[in-house]
Amino acid sequence: MTSRLFSPLTLRGTTFANRVWLAPMCQYSATDGLPNDWHHVHLASRAVGGFGLVIAEATAVVPEGRITPQDTGLWNDAQVAAWRRITDSVHAAGSLAGVQLAHAGRKASTYRPWSPTQGTVPADDGGWPTVAPSAVAFPGYDVPAAMTVEQVQQVPRDFAAAARRAHEAGFDVVEVHAAHGYLLHEFLSPLSNERTDEYGGSLENRARLLVETVDAVRGTWPDDRPLLVRFSATDWVEGGLTVDEVTEVAKDLAGHGVDLVDISTGGNVHASIPVGPGYQVPAARAVRAGSGLPVAAVGLIESPQHAEGILVDEAADVVLLGRAALREPYWPRRAAHELGVPVTAVAWPPQYDRGAWR
Ligand SMILES: Cc1cc2nc3c(=O)[nH]c(=O)nc-3n(C[C@H](O)[C@H](O)[C@H](O)COP(=O)(O)O)c2cc1C
Repeated sequence: MTSRLFSPLTLRGTTFANRVWLAPMCQYSATDGLPNDWHHVHLASRAVGGFGLVIAEATAVVPEGRITPQDTGLWNDAQVAAWRRITDSVHAAGSLAGVQLAHAGRKASTYRPWSPTQGTVPADDGGWPTVAPSAVAFPGYDVPAAMTVEQVQQVPRDFAAAARRAHEAGFDVVEVHAAHGYLLHEFLSPLSNERTDEYGGSLENRARLLVETVDAVRGTWPDDRPLLVRFSATDWVEGGLTVDEVTEVAKDLAGHGVDLVDISTGGNVHASIPVGPGYQVPAARAVRAGSGLPVAAVGLIESPQHAEGILVDEAADVVLLGRAALREPYWPRRAAHELGVPVTAVAWPPQYDRGAWR
């Protein structure tokens, strides 16, 4: 049987062996932004599991851009060396390595999910003051300082410097994080952006920082390597960012060297979200149809048949798995078997060959 999920995809000069990729997932386990053995095992085992690309978690471009003090970073050379060990292992397992570059804006400096305390981390517990387009707090968090124009204009330079380090660290793909209520999403959404300068107001103005960031990253990231952007395609509330707006921005970004957009939703405000299997796929389909860009779909895509169907149906070009991959690092290997993909079409590590389904 031929399978869409297990057919290769080429973006620029980079070919992915298949179209089931690991979604970026914070592990909240770093010290000083350095990935460690936990990150190594987490990412390398998914590469062995057959994901065509493993995307490392939201990795801060500057220390104050971390969601939690335990986030990974790419703001210094020690972090480059620590990531290099991991990308080498991912490559040795036959996969490709991506990293999501991020600045958490008004949602920075928070306690990690399993901490007994929640909300903003105070300075005396290792936290720092947060910044955002406007002095509007995310519910339950401290009020951020509105960024000066100089601070805004520093953001693209910080992303570009991190992209250069991502290249030195051996990553094949970078993804700019413009979703889930973090800094670039905060600029895009009228719910968090009340600026009256050239970075607020019209959609063009709200998207300006993202476009400038993409330009800066593309300017340093090698021409043969793909650049992805993750969006929250809707805020799920009246007056928030809409699928039509995100489609328009994605269409524009196609002309700025973006190769694929990764379509998530929500995270900028509290909202009632109709969560269910494939609940974000309609947004992915709409952005794909309207922007002309390849698209990744994500969100409760858990069975091989469902994943395959989304691609056959042309709602998306790639599927990303998050929580299902936490439960089952070898999900792609099982999926290939269930979809009847011949074992020869899915590279098995020779060490594990005797465990291959035949
Ligand atoms: C533990 C955990 C950490 C996450 N961290 C990130 C992150 O760093 N960046 C991001 O864009 N999304 C993050 N997400 C969201 C996932 O990438 C994914 O979009 C979401 O879990 C929905 O997909 P799923 O239903 O397959 O899990 C995280 C999700 C989980 C469960």
